[in-house]
Amino acid sequence: MAIREIITAPDGRLRKVLSKPVERVDDALRSLMDDMLETMYDAPGIGLAAVQIGEPLRVIVMDLAGADEEPAPIYFVNPEILEPSDEVTLHEEGCLSVPEFYDEVERPTTCRIKYLDYEGNEQVLEAEGLMATCVQHEVDHLEGVLFIDHLSRLKRDRVLKKLKKEQRLAAAE
Ligand code: NI
Repeated sequence: MAIREIITAPDGRLRKVLSKPVERVDDALRSLMDDMLETMYDAPGIGLAAVQIGEPLRVIVMDLAGADEEPAPIYFVNPEILEPSDEVTLHEEGCLSVPEFYDEVERPTTCRIKYLDYEGNEQVLEAEGLMATCVQHEVDHLEGVLFIDHLSRLKRDRVLKKLKKEQRLAAAE
């Protein structure tokens, strides 16, 4: 396993790429998922999409276990969101690709998610609460969408400008 570099906004690789479906769940893919999980734990974060480490594939890892609970990783290959509820909920979100910025985003309260697991078996999960929010946030990444795209243009432009400035300063050091 290896810790990989997480790409941060406004890097175009997070935006223009439509992540491709996985054709086969094999050892090479499991090795990528292992790297993703290690990278996410190291960050630390609760969800990561493959495109965030520069691999435009439809793969997500998540772990919503609390700090005092056993790790509970979930691997989603080719995830599809089904039956999003009409009811919506506001949840505060953050993103490893948008460091140190948090804001509330409105999303469907519940949904089902169909995916292939670590072994390549088809699964369907009923998601609500944090799970529903997180899955929808991560699936957005596969379409080149960031959570800040759900905010007002003013807020989005402000955070992108700040990140750009910080990256310029870091590069100059
Ligand atoms: Ni994110």
